[in-house]
Amino acid sequence: MDEGSAMKDVEPSKTYRLLESGPIVLVTTARDGRANVMTMGFHMVIQHGPPLIGCVIGPWDFSHAALTATGECVIAIPTVDLARTVVDIGNCSGRSIDKFARFGLTAEPARMVGAPLIRECIANLECRIADDRLAADYNLFILEVLAIRYDDAREERRYLHHNGDGTFTVDGRTLDLRERMVQWKAFQVEL
Ligand SMILES: Cc1cc2nc3c(=O)[nH]c(=O)nc-3n(C[C@H](O)[C@H](O)[C@H](O)COP(=O)(O)O)c2cc1C
Repeated sequence: MDEGSAMKDVEPSKTYRLLESGPIVLVTTARDGRANVMTMGFHMVIQHGPPLIGCVIGPWDFSHAALTATGECVIAIPTVDLARTVVDIGNCSGRSIDKFARFGLTAEPARMVGAPLIRECIANLECRIADDRLAADYNLFILEVLAIRYDDAREERRYLHHNGDGTFTVDGRTLDLRERMVQWKAFQVEL
């Protein structure tokens, strides 16, 4: 090894502290007329079309049973005004409480799935399980996004990014480097 290196060793188990995968999100489900919501940090976009995302939702979550039973959920993206609520939602279970009532969230009907949208979130992605072959080994569900509802009117637009330890980074300055994206112009579309 290079004795002069200024870099220290970090345990590979801390990968999640370094590779932040995107904004912290809420996942809603509904089963037998009962809606629930959980917090999720482990997710990634997999492909553009059809739009697929990967989400890790473990059997310790009450939401897991609802997701596997119905095959449907909504990924709702909160902004910084909901920060404390987002953490609290991920620290209690729908097994014992109605989290929509507890946290004052407004459930709105989705178009394509039984799980509700959350009105207080800037975006709601209606999803259906496309592939659950990795769920048994990794709790990884591949979801297809069927519809998106986006709140264009709201003022607060800053996402929250989980640093893995209960601290969060809030979206800050936006760098506009679109003119350098010469190979990827097709993806420069307005929402
Ligand atoms: C910041 C944060 C991120 C989380 N990320 C995930 C995740 O990616 N996957 C997961 O299964 N649980 C995750 N959790 C835990 C669930 O949100 C938590 O177990 C929740 O209580 C599940 O609710 P439920 O039992 O009503 O489904 C996270 C919790 C917090 C606070």
